[in-house]
Amino acid sequence: MAQRRDAVAIAIDGPMGSGKSTVAREVARRLNFRYVDTGAMYRAVAAAALRRGLSLDDAEALAALARRVQVAPASGEEGTSRVLVDGEDLSGELRSVEVNRVVSRVARLPAVRAALGAIQRALGAPGGVVMEGRDIGSVILPDAEVKVYLTASPEARARRRQAELAAAGQVVSLEDVRRIEAEDDRAALTREAAPLRVAPGAVVIDSTHAPVGEVVERILALVRRARGL
Ligand code: DC
Repeated sequence: MAQRRDAVAIAIDGPMGSGKSTVAREVARRLNFRYVDTGAMYRAVAAAALRRGLSLDDAEALAALARRVQVAPASGEEGTSRVLVDGEDLSGELRSVEVNRVVSRVARLPAVRAALGAIQRALGAPGGVVMEGRDIGSVILPDAEVKVYLTASPEARARRRQAELAAAGQVVSLEDVRRIEAEDDRAALTREAAPLRVAPGAVVIDSTHAPVGEVVERILALVRRARGL
């Protein structure tokens, strides 16, 4: 069996609360692939900007921060990525209320997207990677062998997001989560640079009624097919 075919790249995109982080992490663990959470990179730029008191309209200053983002290989049993900006590990701040509030403003800046996109392409180039985000299959890794667009009903997404926030120590009402979800969708869908959409060639998986294990198995089957097994 050709070695290179094993080094496939897997792009997983979808809206907030679609379950893509949980699924992407598990797929990476099962295949012993690298897991890259691109949302964490946007969050790290936002966290670094807040720390430095930068204006969120200063696209150049934010892009300069984005160019200094490094993703350390996932460690620990959780398998979450560690993200550094200028050598400073900001992983602990990525899910804060402040970062949640401002990150979509950071993500809509084309200069920031270009800087993080270059880092993401370099991480994806060798293959053997599961990369998760909003524009991975459409813009960052358009040649990924496996592309998945994960979705779920608004209710299911809000409940998942609420559970994620609770796990990060934030108690938020379902009503507030629905509002955040609608804002995030609007920001993602109307963004001029790389709006959220189903990438050409992506397989759409609706996870509303599918447990994580079932979604993971469907993706592993797509990987086997891509490898010609
Ligand atoms: O998936 P997440 O909630 O961690 O993403 C954080 C923010 O970054 C969210 O506003 C969407 C944005 N994002 C993006 O614009 N492009 C990506 N590839 C990943 C995330």
